[in-house]
Amino acid sequence: MPGLTIGDNLPNLKVETTHGTINLHDYVQDSFTIIFSHPGDFTPVCTTELGAMAAYAEKFNQRGVKLLGLSCDDVESHKEWIKDIEAYNGGKKVTYPIAADPNREIIKQLNMVDPDEKDSSGQILPSRALHIVGPDKKIKLSFLYPASTGRNMDEVVRALDSLLKASKHKIATPANWKEGDAVVIAPSVSNDEAKKMFKNGFETADLPSKKDYLRFTHV
Ligand code: BEZ
Repeated sequence: MPGLTIGDNLPNLKVETTHGTINLHDYVQDSFTIIFSHPGDFTPVCTTELGAMAAYAEKFNQRGVKLLGLSCDDVESHKEWIKDIEAYNGGKKVTYPIAADPNREIIKQLNMVDPDEKDSSGQILPSRALHIVGPDKKIKLSFLYPASTGRNMDEVVRALDSLLKASKHKIATPANWKEGDAVVIAPSVSNDEAKKMFKNGFETADLPSKKDYLRFTHV
């Protein structure tokens, strides 16, 4: 995947949004921030996605996480579109800013271009990209979906919870993990260190190799 990817610094772009002009680094400040793009205003899947994000905004807020949407149309178009998004979503307010990118400069720099989608005048359009940016302004996780596939916001929350936990403890989260499940201890942690580090203790899976790398704990 060419362009911005995990581990890279978020470019400090100046963007026009429905909440005024934003500098990306100033917006992130010291919070985890989710930046998510949409192919275009007044399109069906995007309307459901932005509505879902509005409905989930409180979950992100509780976790101290900021949201920033992006669609290429201009801010005036976004403001009109928000009325549809809110109406479709039972009146739930869109409280997060939506950035505009009429010149398609931001989507190029944020690796959000869909190679297969063009608007009616042949201009490039964004994919359904989503970056979770850390307080250090680095990309921690990216999803890249085509226009035809709307995202699952429960998966965004699940992945975010994994990132937040792994930023506080030397752990990783296994397949299909969800909040409350056991986590695995990072391979870089020795058993002696793990005994001191994890007050709840840990269990080691008994594997045919007899290697003790799969260790579960609760944090
Ligand atoms: C949509 O949001 O429904 C959509 C946008 C662009 C292409 C395909 C679907």
